[in-house]
Order: sequence, then C-alpha cells, then structure tokens
Amino acid sequence: MVSTKHFVHDPDKLVASAISAIPIANPSLAVDVENKIIYRKVAESEKVSVISGGGAGHEPSFASYVGKGILNAAVSGSIFASPSSSQILTALTSKVASNKGILQVIMNYTGDALNFGLGSEKAKAAGKQVETVIVGDDVGVGRQKSGKVGRRGIAGTVLVHKIVGAAADSGFTLKQCRDLAQLVARNIVSVGCSLSHVHVPGSEPVTETLEEDQIEIGMGIHNEQGSERVKTPDLPLLVEKLLKQLLDPNDKDRAFLGQLRPEDEWVLLLNNLGGVSPLEMGAILNEVVSALGSNYSIKPKRVYSGTFMTSLNGLGFSISLLRIEAIPFKSDTSFIDLLDYPHETIGWTGPQARFWDTTSTQNNFSTEAVAAERIEASGLNFNKTAFKESVSAGLQAVISAEAQITKYDDVVGDGDCGTTFKRGAEAVLSFLQDDRLPDDPVVAMTEIANTVEKAMGGTSGAIFSIFLTGFAEGLREIQPGAGKSVGMKEWCDAASYALKTLYSYTPARPGDRTLVDAFHPFIDTVSQTGDVQDAAKKAMQGAESTATMAAKLGRSTYVRDLENTPDPGAVGVATFFEGFAKTF
Ligand SMILES: *[C@@H]1O[C@H](CO)[C@@H](O)[C@H](O)[C@H]1NC(C)=O
Ligand SMILES: *[C@@H]1O[C@H](CO)[C@@H](O)[C@H](O)[C@H]1NC(C)=O
Ligand SMILES: *[C@@H]1O[C@H](CO)[C@@H](O)[C@H](O)[C@H]1NC(C)=O
Repeated sequence: MVSTKHFVHDPDKLVASAISAIPIANPSLAVDVENKIIYRKVAESEKVSVISGGGAGHEPSFASYVGKGILNAAVSGSIFASPSSSQILTALTSKVASNKGILQVIMNYTGDALNFGLGSEKAKAAGKQVETVIVGDDVGVGRQKSGKVGRRGIAGTVLVHKIVGAAADSGFTLKQCRDLAQLVARNIVSVGCSLSHVHVPGSEPVTETLEEDQIEIGMGIHNEQGSERVKTPDLPLLVEKLLKQLLDPNDKDRAFLGQLRPEDEWVLLLNNLGGVSPLEMGAILNEVVSALGSNYSIKPKRVYSGTFMTSLNGLGFSISLLRIEAIPFKSDTSFIDLLDYPHETIGWTGPQARFWDTTSTQNNFSTEAVAAERIEASGLNFNKTAFKESVSAGLQAVISAEAQITKYDDVVGDGDCGTTFKRGAEAVLSFLQDDRLPDDPVVAMTEIANTVEKAMGGTSGAIFSIFLTGFAEGLREIQPGAGKSVGMKEWCDAASYALKTLYSYTPARPGDRTLVDAFHPFIDTVSQTGDVQDAAKKAMQGAESTATMAAKLGRSTYVRDLENTPDPGAVGVATFFEGFAKTF
C-alpha cells in the first residue's frame, strides 16, 4: 500500500509554503507567491537569462536551482501540473533581464511544452527574445511503446540546466546557449526504476500498486507507467538491465546515443526519487559505477549522486549518463568546466571539483598517524606465564557461559550479549595463544583493549576498551618505572584506576543493574584483602543481586518485565572473575 500520511495535506498551501521557504535559505532570491515564481533579486542585464519550471513535486527541481550560475528564475505549477502561460509570461517579462535574450529549458511533457510555448510566443509579441529547448532524456519507454508521446524529460534535465546556466553566466550568447543546451540534451540518457507509486497530498489513495516483490522499470516521475515490472532481482541484475537500456547500441527500440566510441568520456548522475535512504543510494552508486567500469569500460569524469529531481517521496532512483562532447563554437570551454563552474544555489549538491587535488595519492599525515598509534614502552615487566594462565581461564569460563548469558539477554535485552562476550573472549584468547603478548604490561593491556574493541564492537566493546585502556594508564602511573615488576598491589591499583576511568564515561554505579555490579565488588575486595577467590565470589553475588534491581541505564531500561533475570553483562564479567580466580 502506498502511504497517504503527510505532514501537510492541502496541496495548494503546500506548494505556496514550500516555494516561500526558498528565499529563507537563499536570501539572494525573491518569490512571487501568486505566480509561483522564484527569481534572482539581481538581474544581470549583460547576460542571457535561463529559466525553467514545471509541476511541483520534483524538488529541488527547479526552484532550488535558481541562483547565480544556474537559473535566473523558475516557475512552478501545482503538484504534477504545468504552470499556466500567464505565470510564465510574468516570469519572462518582469522577473529576469532580457537584454541579451532568455532561454527556457523545460521537460518534454505536453502541458509544459504548450504553456511555455504559449508564454514565449506572448513574450516575443511583447518584443522579448526567447528561445526554448525541450529535454527528453528518458529511455525508460522505448520508441515503439511511447509512440507519439515521445521521450519524457527526467533527472538528466538538471545537467542541461547546470551546464547552460554556467555558460550564460560566463557570457555565452543566446544562440550559443540554445545550441549548447541542445547539444547537451542530445547526449543524455536516463532511466528510472521504482519500488512503489507515490501519493499526492490531498488526493485519493493510489489504486495502482506494485506487489511487494516487484520493481517497475522506467516508471515516470508522475507515476507514469514504465516499460516492465520485474520481480525484485539482485541489485546487480537490476543495474545491468538499466544500463543496457541506456547504452546497448543493438537495442533497436532505444540506442538513443547510437554507437559508443571507446574514447568517449562520461558524466554520471545518480538521482534519488525522494524516498530511498542515503545508505541504499551509496550501495546503488557503488554497483552502478562498478558495472559501468566492468561491462562498458566507462569511468565517469564526474559523478553526481543525490537528490536532484524527485517524484515527491518516490521510492526509486534514476541513472543518467551524459556523453561529453566538444563545444564546436567554444573550443576553450568544456562540459566539465561548466559543471564545475561556481554557483549560488541551494539545490545543486555536486562536489566542488574545482578544489580537488587529484595528483596526490596519499595524504601527508601518514607518518604522524603511524607514530600516534605506537604505544610507548613503560619500562615495567610482568609474569607473562601467570598472566596468560589466569586470564585464559577467565576467558574460557566466559565462552562456556555463552548459552546462559544469551538466555538472560533474550529476556532483558536484544539477545546478542552472550555471542558478543564470546566473540571478545575468543579474540583475546587467540591473541594470548598466538604468543603475541608483549613483554611490557602497558603495551600488552593496550593491545588487549584494541583486540576487545574490534571483536565486540558497539557499546560493550567501548566499555571494555575504556576499562582496559584505563588499566594500561593505571599501570603506567606506577613509579619509578624501569625494571619494576608488576605485583599484586600494582595490579590492584591499576584496576582501581581503570574503574575510575570507566566511571568518568558512564553514570553507572553499583546498584544500577549494569556490569559495574560485578566489577566494583571484585576490585574493591581484592584491593582491600588481596583474596582473589573471595573477590570473585563477591562479584558473582553482585551480578546475581541485579536480578531484583530496576534498570536505570542501558539495554533493559525499556523492557517492562525483567522476570527476575540478572543483568547478562554483569554475569559475564563475574563469570570471567570466577574462572580467573580458580588459578590462584
Ligand atoms: C517530445 O515529445 C514529442 C511528442 O510529444 C516528440 O515528438 C518529441 O520528439 C519529443 N522531444 C524530445 C526532445 O524528446
Ligand atoms: C554488458 O553489456 C551488454 C550490452 O549492453 C549486455 O547485453 C550485457 O547483459 C551486459 N552484461 C553485464 C554482465 O552487465
Ligand atoms: C610466574 O608464574 C608462574 C606460574 O604462576 C610461576 O610458576 C613462576 O614461578 C612465576 N615466575 C616468576 C619469575 O615469578
């Protein structure tokens, strides 16, 4: 089902309000709310003006591309409906400079072509010079099926705007701007795909829906039907299909770019139709770029990935490819120069490639970074044999208790505590068994801390790593250093130091139903009496006492009924001490 939930339901108020928001973010612009026109406050009379527009619902297209360097004005209709010719006429005659002429770059939809056509005819009758370029970059529906309707304009259109807007700002004439826009438009192919239709605020629910396991290839940016529906394939298969529609020279129904030359250079625009998570967009970009490279030997000169032209909150994306051509009448300027040209819009989110340094292969911090990672020796030493024996026994106990810890965490947490503890214990155990334990106890503790953090990850990884790093710091505090062997008193002092370090990062204290309820009694007892076995017993009692405590922090806070289950983290820590103590 396509959701009909929205924050704003009245479509007219929605468009008027959204358009009014643009000058808030970009104070170089003004808005004519009545005519839904966004325009630059400064009209540069010695330059060609470029305008665009169309239905609302495709934001940031087009109003957010108004600003120096791209569009001089944009005219918006209602959601998915063309603006009227009188709105367009207002823009042409009173919102942009017209001394050097005006270029309209619009998309190939019947309403837009008619209204912008009519608007420009009226403006010409009033003495203005106006040229119009219509972009139809979509290859989604092939020649046969699209018939008289022709190719629609979709996200590739913004590449025309970016390039021709920069050209106009840098002094191209009206005829040059028009010819350039046509040249760019001819060399763009785009195709989209969607998981779902979109719902227009204030309208009836969408009746046409895709099945849970279907993707529609070639769906338009107004819910228009695409070329086919496929069962959700793997992303690589989907991307292969899309690229084939864009580039296959043997596709009789498409092949809009004709034969490809190996020396051709390209620009890639991956566009979010509005509702795809940026996380998924990253994976899609990765797949598209690798498929272009491996199957077509295409390595784009510029890659734009983001939200450029939406279909409201569309759950889909489109791929546009622009083949770079030389500009015959302006040999000192390239498409890339114009794409990289500065602009003052809030909508264009391309990289600032002008500042890129593509010659260096390495950053010049690398040697310092390595130095920072090296741990300085402390001059202390310790009984490695005894350390390994005791710690290994503790770790073995934790590994054996995995099922028990998991059982508790299934009740009070999300069930992964046992496996996380086991993972950490196994990693340290293999570190010890591989004979990688350094001779210096500070270095050893630091490396164990790093091993635990890497193996456990998440909150528990961080907690243990802070504790063990604090332990290493505590050892380093021991004076005077050189040659001194770490004995019981020093281990205890370092452990107390570690607990203090942990306390500076967490508000958890004994009684809060956390692993502190095991740590605290152990360290407290062993520091006072030196009796490791008794300390381990107190740690286990502490862990068990958490069963009747209310959760104040961490994973269990949101669980309603803890069923008298002890805190799994505390049990894990106490289990370690239990195994550890048996070697004394
Ligand atoms: C736009 O669509 C019309 C039919 O509506 C078609 O004749 C024309 O070729 C299309 N233009 C472009 C640039 O694709
Ligand atoms: C490679 O490209 C050709 C031509 O477009 C296409 O037929 C083929 O399916 C593609 N193969 C892969 C693995 O993408
Ligand atoms: C180190 O510990 C082992 C095992 O507990 C013990 O046998 C050995 O004597 C200790 N070595 C030193 C130098 O204290």
